[in-house]
Amino acid sequence: MGRLSVHQLKEWKKEQRRFAMVTAYDYSAARLVEQAGIPIILVGDSVGSVMLGYDSTVPVTMDEIVHHTKPVVRATEKTIVVADLPFGSYQVSEAEAMANAMRLLKEGGATAVKLEGGAHVAPLVRKMVDVGIPVMGHLGLTPQSVNQLGGHKVQGRTPRAAARLMMDAQALEEAGAFAVVLETIPAPVARCVTERLSIPTIGIGAGKYCDGQVQVWHDLLGIYDDRRPFKHAKRYATLGATIREALKEFAGEVEESEFPTREHSFDVEPKVLKEASLA
Ligand code: KIV
Repeated sequence: MGRLSVHQLKEWKKEQRRFAMVTAYDYSAARLVEQAGIPIILVGDSVGSVMLGYDSTVPVTMDEIVHHTKPVVRATEKTIVVADLPFGSYQVSEAEAMANAMRLLKEGGATAVKLEGGAHVAPLVRKMVDVGIPVMGHLGLTPQSVNQLGGHKVQGRTPRAAARLMMDAQALEEAGAFAVVLETIPAPVARCVTERLSIPTIGIGAGKYCDGQVQVWHDLLGIYDDRRPFKHAKRYATLGATIREALKEFAGEVEESEFPTREHSFDVEPKVLKEASLA
């Protein structure tokens, strides 16, 4: 059957069919996403913050994204796998950007790439699309520019910023992007953008009118219960606590010699030990 086509998303938009996207960065997580029937996985550069312990997405490298994309692709058959172009991988030169995007498809096995920015990256998006690289855009709060934006602030709040956002979204659509992520912008602005584009918008902190919604794996599953969650994140499980409890129980049973029991052990005929001069 093969993977879902990126063009299917535009059809879903016409049918007003909503869809989910979730980040995943490894084999086991990607298997679960596909089993849950979620059609798109984003190997986001959020890997830097949630898996690698960086304080932002800025330090993430191409090698790291490729490393995390490969197992996600191996774990899935139907799901669209979008891999993030990390900061610095598409800003230096067009040639480098093209080579890095191709690497995510050829080496990583991704279906598509995602990059941040609007009108200024549109010529690059066009070039990628023209050579066969599907591109997802990303507007609003673009975490790779967190130092320039001065923190994780809501974007598109002034008339000028809202109009700019619309212009950027239209530039991405005209350049051939197949979808655009809208991050941390007012819901009414996201609604206008969604209504004016023919490609789907995928929101995170952008309200309910977007065509799709994306959440970060660790936020959705409550892995970091000791960190204050972003306002846009919803916890659907509390796996951090569940995992911690399981680990404590395991360690306790080992310390008390309660694990392993016969159930988790292997036996051998006593004569084997005898003949081996071990008994
Ligand atoms: O890297 C990421 O996880 C993202 C999402 C927040 C959209 O870009």
